[in-house]
Amino acid sequence: GKLRKYNFDISRGLLAPDGVNASLILVNGAFPGPTIEANWGDTFQITVNNKIEGPEAGTSLHWHGLLQHETPWMDGVPSVTQCPIAPGQSFTYTFKADRPGTSWWHSHYAAQTAGGLHGAMIIHGPIPAGVTYDYDLGPVLLSDHYFIDYRELLQGYLSVPLDLIFSDNNLINGKGQFDCSKTNRTCTPNAGYSKFRFRSGKTHLLRLINTSAEGLQHFTIDGHSFQVIEFDFVPIKRFTTSKVTLSPGQRANILVKGIGKPNSSYWVRSDIDAVCAAPSQPHALAQIYYENSDITKAPNTNATPYTAIGCGTDPLASTVPLYPIAPPANPSTRKDLDITLGFNQTGFLQWYMNNVTFRADMNLALLSAVNNGTEYFGVPEWNVWDFGSNSSIRMLMRNYHISPHPMHLHGHDFWILAEGHGDWDGKIVNPGNPIRRDTHQLLPMDAENRPGYAVIEWVQDNPGVWAFHCHIFSHLSLGFYINVLERPDDVQNFDIPDSVQNTCVQWNAYASKNV
Ligand code: C2O
Repeated sequence: GKLRKYNFDISRGLLAPDGVNASLILVNGAFPGPTIEANWGDTFQITVNNKIEGPEAGTSLHWHGLLQHETPWMDGVPSVTQCPIAPGQSFTYTFKADRPGTSWWHSHYAAQTAGGLHGAMIIHGPIPAGVTYDYDLGPVLLSDHYFIDYRELLQGYLSVPLDLIFSDNNLINGKGQFDCSKTNRTCTPNAGYSKFRFRSGKTHLLRLINTSAEGLQHFTIDGHSFQVIEFDFVPIKRFTTSKVTLSPGQRANILVKGIGKPNSSYWVRSDIDAVCAAPSQPHALAQIYYENSDITKAPNTNATPYTAIGCGTDPLASTVPLYPIAPPANPSTRKDLDITLGFNQTGFLQWYMNNVTFRADMNLALLSAVNNGTEYFGVPEWNVWDFGSNSSIRMLMRNYHISPHPMHLHGHDFWILAEGHGDWDGKIVNPGNPIRRDTHQLLPMDAENRPGYAVIEWVQDNPGVWAFHCHIFSHLSLGFYINVLERPDDVQNFDIPDSVQNTCVQWNAYASKNV
């Protein structure tokens, strides 16, 4: 494979992606950050230079959905796989492009991803049999967008009484418009939408990525239906739909047939579910222009109606088309270890998983601590779940909370064996070929106060310390998080590069002066 080198200069800056001035975290001066691209099996080498100034100025980048097999220290989770990159310091991430498909990278430090520090990741690989398209139109980032600084956002969530802050806008590929009469911030009207070029009769690949801090996104294209061919790096049996729902962290590759005439134009829409969030959540728009159409004129098409099912993704019972093309290599009945995790919330301040809340200690890296034999169980808030060398883990999650939670596991994807409310009856949905992805929306409590549950399972073939958390950034930042220790004996045998420990030396020096 080839070496794919990138240089990221990360800094804070004022930009107006939708016309409204906002303080964002930028990469090489831009928002959203650059798309990184490789062929399957290539090696990414990404040098991150932290030029963020002011307090709370650490950073660390995570490559969502990659396995990081034998490089768990490149996973980018501060306090777990490394220390934050201190201001003025650099760190180089070197890792394999180990899964083909569509994903993204984002900061894993505080709520920085809500501050704009994210971008797409595309890894080209074999195209499944029967799939053909004419044009790859690249990433379509669906991002809720906040005018306030991510640090203020977290302050709001931490304050008593709670100051719940919802997103101000919803952007597609970092663009959108805003009604300037609704803000007293510096605002320029008609900032413009993202535009996609379509050709009549041709097939277009769009790579949808929900990069939102919080919003569940419903994506539609006026007048067009499409085929979904991949979810979260997993090629699936194709199915046709006119709406795709994605929770934060999830992706979908779709093929859109150009049914429009030359000269025509259409609106692309992504709605944040009003049932799940504040009723006034903004909707995102973008534009499709067919050949010979006037791109200075706005389309005048109508939205495709759809039904949102609660505020979760579609229930498993109705998701037959989501099944992977390749059935599991290991039958889903192999589980060695069965565990149950309950999620709950106290006040609005903290999230608990089995009564423990995660508190990051930024001054060390848990993976390194395990590697050099430091005792980690004496520190309860590290929230380490040692799954030993069991060959597979089955986890029953229960959600005692009123909203759904997109649960994401690092270093793996997982089968989703069953879901529902109350008690699991032990039945697996489609046991021969269960759904598999790396982020799954856990159902909320129902009207009768029965917890939502989901049963997931994965094979322990990837030694490391892996984050397992809700992908809503305020929840993650407030402790909705555990560390999964997989194969500790193998972790102790790793030879972790010195550059990882250096992040801790540098962060300690910075923190002793500044925090
Ligand atoms: Cu998208 Cu913990 O990550």
